[in-house]
Amino acid sequence: MATRDFDELSITSAVIERFSDVPDPRLKTLLVSLVRHVHDFVREVELTEAEWFAAIDFLTRTGQACSDTRQEFILLSDTLGVSMLVDAINHRQPVGVTETTVLGPFYVANPPVQPNGADIATGNEGPPLYVAGTVTAPDGKPLAGATVDVWHSDEDGLYDVQKPGAKAQLRARFTTDAQGRFAFWTIVPCFYPVPHDGPVGAMLKASRRHPYRPAHLHFMIAHPGFETLVTHLFMEGDPYLDSDAVFGVKQSLIVRLTEESGPAPGRQVEGTWHSLDHRFGLKPAASVP
Ligand code: BEZ
Ligand code: FE
Repeated sequence: MATRDFDELSITSAVIERFSDVPDPRLKTLLVSLVRHVHDFVREVELTEAEWFAAIDFLTRTGQACSDTRQEFILLSDTLGVSMLVDAINHRQPVGVTETTVLGPFYVANPPVQPNGADIATGNEGPPLYVAGTVTAPDGKPLAGATVDVWHSDEDGLYDVQKPGAKAQLRARFTTDAQGRFAFWTIVPCFYPVPHDGPVGAMLKASRRHPYRPAHLHFMIAHPGFETLVTHLFMEGDPYLDSDAVFGVKQSLIVRLTEESGPAPGRQVEGTWHSLDHRFGLKPAASVP
């Protein structure tokens, strides 16, 4: 292998050759494939020096926009569909198991523990919604003692962590009862934009793409012996179901709310309210050999 005077093609094999002694075989696969694809990309588009510099500047600003409370690189991955591609490859769900979708940046570990039936809206305005669910194994057997973390945005599309000084709102942890059931009161969620005041927002704008996500409730459900399920429930009829900025919508995760006017479980409601009841199937964890 020549070691100098590389041309537009031979530079690629020279770089790959330089990685021939990587001891970790998986790391070697990743690095070699990355070099091959990046070089092919540069050749395919005939990247100009100005474009190369603009890309470096974009990635630098993406890193600079990251903080303890903001992850612009994950947002870039989300809006380029990479997060959902990784999700699809890593969660090929068997029959009876709920499909997964993006975690998003607004999950908070160890949310406030609440009893079943609690109201997590804590003063937020919006149409009342009673959410009930059952957590099961793939065969439908109820799982008692599963932890169910839920979180969603308010009527203005903001999560509590985006509001300076706000206490935990519209988020909680429930535990399933002996029948695998959990339930809580909240408000009907609304569509909202992903953070779009940084480099990713500029990329969306330059591409004439909107930053909106369709209305959804987030769930993270854990039970010993099963894979932790990270998913959403989307609201049927939302205008952004077919253009989610982060490509997270799956048909099986779209639910229809029922409009109710009778007595509401555990509380007095003026006028109508909404309800939904959904089964979440967990995947048995791969057995350790
Ligand atoms: C979310 O649903 O909370 C979310 C997901 C991806 C990017 C931004 C927000
Ligand atoms: Fe969300």
